[in-house]
Amino acid sequence: MEGKGFAYWLLCLICFVSFLPAPCLGDEIFDYQHRCSVDGTEWEGLGCGTTKLLIKGGTVVNADHQFIGDIYVEDGIIQTMGPNLPVTDDVRVIDASGKFVMPGGIDPHTHLEMPFMGQESCDDFFSGQAAALAGGTTMHIDFALPSDGDLLKGFEIYSKKAKKSCTDYGFHMAVTTWNENVAKDMELLVKEKGINSFKFFLAYKGSLMVTDEQLLQGFKKCKELGALPQVHAENGDAVAEGQSRIFAMGITGPEGHALSRPPVLEGEATARSIRLAKFINTPLYVVHVMSIDAMQEISQARQSGQRVIGEPIVSGLALDDSKLWDADYKIAAQYVMSPPIRSTGHDKALQAALSSGILQLVGTDHAPFNSSQKAQGRHDFRAIPNGVNGIEERMHIVWDVMVNSGKLSPREYVRITSTACAQIFNIHPRKGAILPGSDADIIILNPNATTRISASTHHSRMDTNVYEGWTMKGNIEVTISQGRVVWENGRLHVKRGVGRYIPMAPFSYLFDGLDKLDLEYVSSLKAPVDRSTDALTSI
Ligand code: URP
Ligand code: ZN
Ligand code: ZN
Repeated sequence: MEGKGFAYWLLCLICFVSFLPAPCLGDEIFDYQHRCSVDGTEWEGLGCGTTKLLIKGGTVVNADHQFIGDIYVEDGIIQTMGPNLPVTDDVRVIDASGKFVMPGGIDPHTHLEMPFMGQESCDDFFSGQAAALAGGTTMHIDFALPSDGDLLKGFEIYSKKAKKSCTDYGFHMAVTTWNENVAKDMELLVKEKGINSFKFFLAYKGSLMVTDEQLLQGFKKCKELGALPQVHAENGDAVAEGQSRIFAMGITGPEGHALSRPPVLEGEATARSIRLAKFINTPLYVVHVMSIDAMQEISQARQSGQRVIGEPIVSGLALDDSKLWDADYKIAAQYVMSPPIRSTGHDKALQAALSSGILQLVGTDHAPFNSSQKAQGRHDFRAIPNGVNGIEERMHIVWDVMVNSGKLSPREYVRITSTACAQIFNIHPRKGAILPGSDADIIILNPNATTRISASTHHSRMDTNVYEGWTMKGNIEVTISQGRVVWENGRLHVKRGVGRYIPMAPFSYLFDGLDKLDLEYVSSLKAPVDRSTDALTSI
């Protein structure tokens, strides 16, 4: 410790004589090689820990309006916004002229420290969130898995894991079986623990998969509680059949993964879950929409007036399946995820669906397994841990694919990367907006700077990156989380334990009016028919 203290003061002395700002004692400052150079306990009174910020002259973008002006932040909250706000002595001024000032990204779909297929995803709640902040994401919603089917136990385990968080987060809870305890725990999680969404896996037979009977019970309970049911939509029975068939043909490598679970199986499960949600009259959220087949089912349901939310993820929007055929196993295995990344054409169709409003928000499904973990399936694609990286890349890739290409405006970009997620999960306008009273989670994006993605410079613990070499116009130069500058000049200033659990209340806008539809349904039945008089006359 003494050595560390001496090093810190030496660093301060160097900063003093060279007129550089002092390093922030209390931050863990990462460099690109993932080393933490300073670790302490204090934030306050130091340059990057400053809590009064004036962001000047940027184009401030919300999902519904934009203007050129200033934002004043104090104590982690946006206080005021407008043109030419006054500069006072104790305020740090950040010049944002020529740049976009937007709400920090919210990633609705991540898997940090997830035990899965005999491995644990290699980013924990600290490294994964540090990576998120470096890429402009200031909040994520992770999927907590039950422990041996026990939801509460699973929630407690994930809550402990998340104690090391350096940014805000929430949880969806997975439901992997059905019994009275599950129903009771769902109720407690919604009423006392801030959970308002539950995920049901229609794939992963023998581990996470639920039957239609269990799904129906889950949908009913969700509706009663005002919680949003989510589905991983692939037909798990057919996937198991497809895996046996492809493996028996001698196809053992990563390409077998895509071949064994084609888009038709995603389309089938999407259609089935949408129809069952209609039968129960509950809203539905389809996670990681990867194919035209699934997207068209969502489109049709929405056109008929059903409340279905479709979430594409970055890998589905930006990649195709060609790398699964790479001769190098290490490269090919990186791209194994479920549902699989599809052949070229699906990506463009998903982009179009996002720009036309058929799909609503973009996640990542960040489930990183490094090369040594992926090596588990070297001789059998069925054993390759499923998942790709994306938490750090999402905001840049979506900007490139959707905004640089002219498919979406900056306002729509804010909607699909932040605001829609906050609204769907009922935390808007605390999150997902730049408004007085909102949390000061803000990014500054320079549309003229360049970003290059590489495993050698990213902050995730992954040793590979599925977007390796991707170069684009647009760079998130500053990330502000809870009113503090945590990413600036290519460096992270993050601290373990400051990330807050954001509870999410049930009965989001998606539930408004369902009672009226239920009444309409009951009155449409015209039953039971009164046959009492008829019975008397006909006997
Ligand atoms: O391949 C994936 N998607 N891994 C994470 C688990 C899931 O299905 O979301
Ligand atoms: Zn899934
Ligand atoms: Zn997932």
